[in-house]
Amino acid sequence: MSHILAIDQGTTSSRAMIFDASLRPLASASQEFPQHFPASGWVEHDPADLWTTVAGSCRAVIERAGLRTGDIAAIGITNQRETTLIWDRKTGKPVHNAIVWQDRRTAETCAQLRKAGHEATISQTTGLLLDPYFSATKIRWILDNVEGTRARAEAGELAFGTVDTWLIWNLTGGAVHATDATNAARTMLFDIRSGEWSDEICTLLDIPRALLPEVRDCAADFGRTRADLFGAEIPILGVAGDQQAATIGQACFKPGMMKSTYGTGCFALLNTGAEMVQSENRLLTTLAYQLNGQRTYALEGSIFIAGAVVQWLRDGLKIIREAKETQPLAEAADPAQDVVIVPAFTGLGAPYWRPETRGAIFGLTRNTGPAEFARAALESVGYQTRDLLEAMRADWTGAGDSVLRVDGGMCASDWTMQFLADVLGAPVDRAEVQETTALGAAWLAGMFAGVCPDMEGFAGSWRCDRRFEPVMDAQEREARYSRWQSAVAATMQV
Ligand code: G3P
Repeated sequence: MSHILAIDQGTTSSRAMIFDASLRPLASASQEFPQHFPASGWVEHDPADLWTTVAGSCRAVIERAGLRTGDIAAIGITNQRETTLIWDRKTGKPVHNAIVWQDRRTAETCAQLRKAGHEATISQTTGLLLDPYFSATKIRWILDNVEGTRARAEAGELAFGTVDTWLIWNLTGGAVHATDATNAARTMLFDIRSGEWSDEICTLLDIPRALLPEVRDCAADFGRTRADLFGAEIPILGVAGDQQAATIGQACFKPGMMKSTYGTGCFALLNTGAEMVQSENRLLTTLAYQLNGQRTYALEGSIFIAGAVVQWLRDGLKIIREAKETQPLAEAADPAQDVVIVPAFTGLGAPYWRPETRGAIFGLTRNTGPAEFARAALESVGYQTRDLLEAMRADWTGAGDSVLRVDGGMCASDWTMQFLADVLGAPVDRAEVQETTALGAAWLAGMFAGVCPDMEGFAGSWRCDRRFEPVMDAQEREARYSRWQSAVAATMQV
């Protein structure tokens, strides 16, 4: 009974990992699932795909690790956040596809709410901004557009959940309708000051309270899996949204510690401790984690396009076959060319929040080729991170000269990490265990089960794979960053 099963349900794939009691990764399995784009700017997932790929990955990883179900002490769940599901409490049948966090269909609703002067109340209560990114307007869209759902929701027949809640419901055979505080904090219905659902915001958005799950700590009892699923019941003892789980996996437990995860997008979280810092620079205020009823807050910067810009080089422009080809290309780029790519493919996230803006490229010459495109694409990730760090430093003095802990696929590129350190003017630490998201979920569950170290012990076991120190001359750094800022300003004007 000394292994932990971590489930990481992401935007494009579901993954399961087994960790031992000292939190060493032993095995992993993952499955991709289809994305659905029913209209421009709409993104949906089939709820059945989310569940079956999770269940399939869990079975595969248990087998791959050569374990019996009895060897697993606990399950930890981490998940893509904000994605919205509603289902029938009796049958477990969803009333609509899951509306994914990237979906922009409620942009108009958000604009109307902003025009009506509601953004300040929403921000003070939930820490978020009025943007289609969050769950609340997606819930409302389903209730307004799927026949009969509003009446059924008011009668208490339907259940809402983010992906964690949907998985817990299915794992426990419908016995538990619960979420954790970090996922609740991304719905735009949760009062992060009191740690309760906000009646005021529910009334404002016309969302029946009867839909909402119970909110628990990140390390808590979330029920036991159905015995027939994996051969025996396994307790679910840890839950956190994926960026919060990565913050935990990076052991950013002290105020001032910061992590940035480079997946499809990039999400930077700065631990602000017990202090709930209201951003004046359009960052989000959110929960880093909630343990023993104690809330730890964070400032979050969310960028929608990071690794996705490399996918665009590969699948759109077809100038590379594999992501790793970007590094030699960037190294070979002509230093005399100043190509800047602003990858606002789906609008700009923090700190600009411009859903209508689209991408732009500056500085093209007759000699610009794949190498300069690759370098500009990788650099855009560094510049966007600097935008977030600037906003964090302006919002909170505790952000100071913090080291940035990084994880995610793009961190494999030394060139990109060096550029990141150079453009930030701060050290960048690449974690030894790159699967920090699953690691965070595993620690929550293993710690609650009593088989893994406590917070201090876990933080002490965090290892740096490599530190990147800034080497770029300060004048060059500022000149380049100011070119980026001009490029973003020009892009927003088009
Ligand atoms: O807020 C969205 C984020 O949680 C999605 O993360 O890793 O599934 O792209 P990921």
